[in-house]
Amino acid sequence: MRIYRMSEAGQSTLVEEPTPTPGTSQVLIRVHASSLNARDLFMLDGRYPVPQGRVPLSDAAGVVEATGPGVTRWEVGDRVVNSFNPLWFGGPQRTPGQHYHTDLDGWLAEYVVIDEQRLVPVPAHLDFTEAATLPCAAATAYTALEGVGPGDTVLIQGSGGVSLFALQLAHAAGARVIATTSSENKAARLRELGASDVINYVDRPGWGAAVRELTDGQGADIIVEVGGAGTIAQSIKAVAYRGTISLVGHVAHGTTGMNLLDFTYSGATLRAIGGGSRSDLEDMNRVIAAHQLHPVIDRVFPFEEALDAAAHLGSGTHFGKVVITH
Ligand SMILES: NC(=O)c1ccc[n+]([C@@H]2O[C@H](COP(=O)([O-])OP(=O)(O)OC[C@H]3O[C@@H](n4cnc5c(N)ncnc54)[C@H](OP(=O)(O)O)[C@@H]3O)[C@@H](O)[C@H]2O)c1
Repeated sequence: MRIYRMSEAGQSTLVEEPTPTPGTSQVLIRVHASSLNARDLFMLDGRYPVPQGRVPLSDAAGVVEATGPGVTRWEVGDRVVNSFNPLWFGGPQRTPGQHYHTDLDGWLAEYVVIDEQRLVPVPAHLDFTEAATLPCAAATAYTALEGVGPGDTVLIQGSGGVSLFALQLAHAAGARVIATTSSENKAARLRELGASDVINYVDRPGWGAAVRELTDGQGADIIVEVGGAGTIAQSIKAVAYRGTISLVGHVAHGTTGMNLLDFTYSGATLRAIGGGSRSDLEDMNRVIAAHQLHPVIDRVFPFEEALDAAAHLGSGTHFGKVVITH
């Protein structure tokens, strides 16, 4: 089989290896698709060191090709997608756990052997390219939106993978969604997906006030904070009294400019998000199935062009998920 492994130089290289055999409680997956997340870029280009030989990527979907002794959850032919946090099955997360690509071999391979507990079924209406986008970005959006419901206002930042899932899930939950973006073209597409209002954060760097204007001074009940240091000060201006800022990511560089007094007066909660558990992924998949949601896929690359896929994600021109077919 063909598999990518990180070389000594911190680059990923395509190599040939024997197809592995599943051991006790393990299954062999024929991987059909994987997807890229912002975190992968740092590791694929050597900016974030990972052990030599590590297999990249955290998200994939495929078919159970063989089962090892003692497997009870799966049969040959089942369509499966992995959970992003392989050791977090549900309930409160007590430790950061382990992650693919950094601590464990990931999914950029034609076949993977994996503990049967680290997988969930693919929602019936999704194909493999769609299902491969769910483990990190979608489950993160889902946990960031915890408690969302009709009447709420959700603010999403930009049009990356996490933000588009947050838009789709919040819209499906009956919430109003306000989005920020850097381009008019993307603004139109955000509206098509259900955003009621879109603010261009380049034209209006003080977009926190714009969110207040759009909500009669109330602000957003939940902010899916993917910007981090470069956006948090505006988020504090935009958040509703006793609202929630779910701190997901750090795509907006800069210093926080965060005024702790303003934050105290906002009464808001700042929640650090660390993906979702297997149970979160299963719950989210029920929502996705009930609403027949389809992940937004920007572009699909063949397995041999996995590094081009990463370069495309890094270009920032994407709208939605970048996927690799295996
Ligand atoms: N904590 C967790 O569990 C978790 C899980 C997943 C991801 N993350 C993190 O979350 C962040 C987003 O991940 P992703 O995979 O969705 O990334 P992505 O797809 O690469 O998102 C890139 C998008 O971010 C937007 N952006 C950049 N600067 C911005 C700014 N100043 N204000 C608003 N939007 C801005 C841009 O949107 P426009 O082009 O529309 O302007 C860009 O397209 C990353 O930092 C990632 O590491 C964390």
